[in-house]
Amino acid sequence: MQITLDNLQRSYGNLHAVHGVSLSIPSNTIYGIIGKSGAGKSTLVRLISLLESPDSGEVYFDDVRVDNLTKRAMIERRRRVGMIFQNFNLFSSRNAEENIAYPMEINGIDKDAIKVRVDELLKLVGLEGRGKAPISTLSGGQMQRVAIARALACNPDILFCDEATSALDPQTTHSILSLLKEIQKKMSLTVVMITHQMEVVRDACDQVAVLNDGKVVEQGFVTDIFANPSSEVTKEFLAHLVGVDGSASSDDKMVQWSKKTGTYTLRFRGDTTDQPILSRITRDLGVEFNIRAGGVQKVGDVEIGTMIVDISGDEAIKKKAIDALKKQGVLVEEEGKA
Ligand SMILES: Nc1ncnc2c1ncn2[C@@H]1O[C@H](COP(=O)(O)OP(=O)(O)O)[C@@H](O)[C@H]1O
Ligand SMILES: [Mg+2]
Repeated sequence: MQITLDNLQRSYGNLHAVHGVSLSIPSNTIYGIIGKSGAGKSTLVRLISLLESPDSGEVYFDDVRVDNLTKRAMIERRRRVGMIFQNFNLFSSRNAEENIAYPMEINGIDKDAIKVRVDELLKLVGLEGRGKAPISTLSGGQMQRVAIARALACNPDILFCDEATSALDPQTTHSILSLLKEIQKKMSLTVVMITHQMEVVRDACDQVAVLNDGKVVEQGFVTDIFANPSSEVTKEFLAHLVGVDGSASSDDKMVQWSKKTGTYTLRFRGDTTDQPILSRITRDLGVEFNIRAGGVQKVGDVEIGTMIVDISGDEAIKKKAIDALKKQGVLVEEEGKA
């Protein structure tokens, strides 16, 4: 199911929570929407999932406009939209299988069919034989698995994950993302992954939109955006991810050689990661690079190297060095300049 958003607006009082969002989310992919707290992500999800109506703008599923459906048609359409959340939203009074059965009961499916489907779903999410477990006895990862099974119960064609891994430790996050990727393929779902974690985008998404103050500031394939971020917000997310600002918690923390921070961020992508570009430029131009920090990470199938450096010499020679780097396909960002 392809999702198209055309100039969506949603205000609360005079606060523009979603401020003119247009996006095309292709079918059969995992599409990330990343933004800081308050960027408007959850509001946007409520608009796309038909839980709330936009003040203006349009939502299409394939070629069908869905934001202005009659109430009855909207309820019908919403049945095939699955959602999972950060805090799981399970019924603590029901056990695992009763949680999973819930949406099917609402839809009037008969008991025997529900039983068969629940067993299928438990197996799909790796909880075979755990159906009778009270919710309170499950770990966070297992609770999210129950929530995923419940979201898939009525065969949705779209699955929204709003900060679905934000309450989980890195290892559990990894296993839930693997499960979501597997399910996406199996069921040919369109998955919309809302997050404030660049790790989630890197590990699970094909494409991503960066949301800031209710607007899309950047959007495209994850590998392209990692190699060549254009907005300040995206650069901040990436800096956090690779640990340049010293605050990252991810596995690919950069190695920091020097306490000083460098002026230039160099990004090497794919082929350029294993070529002696710096030493060649040093030899040709006589400049020196002081490497402050560096690291390589895998984004999908592509390796992206990041290096924080200072360049010695006067402005003219620095400029020459930067031009030479750019010519070799290295992306160069100078601190304080976009
Ligand atoms: N129902 C609401 N009433 C008033 N303000 C809201 C409501 N929902 C969201 N907001 C405001 O809209 C902005 C975006 O919120 P939200 O979409 O939850 O952002 P995010 O999910 O990216 O953290 C925030 O400033 C928030 O306080
Ligand atoms: Mg939110």
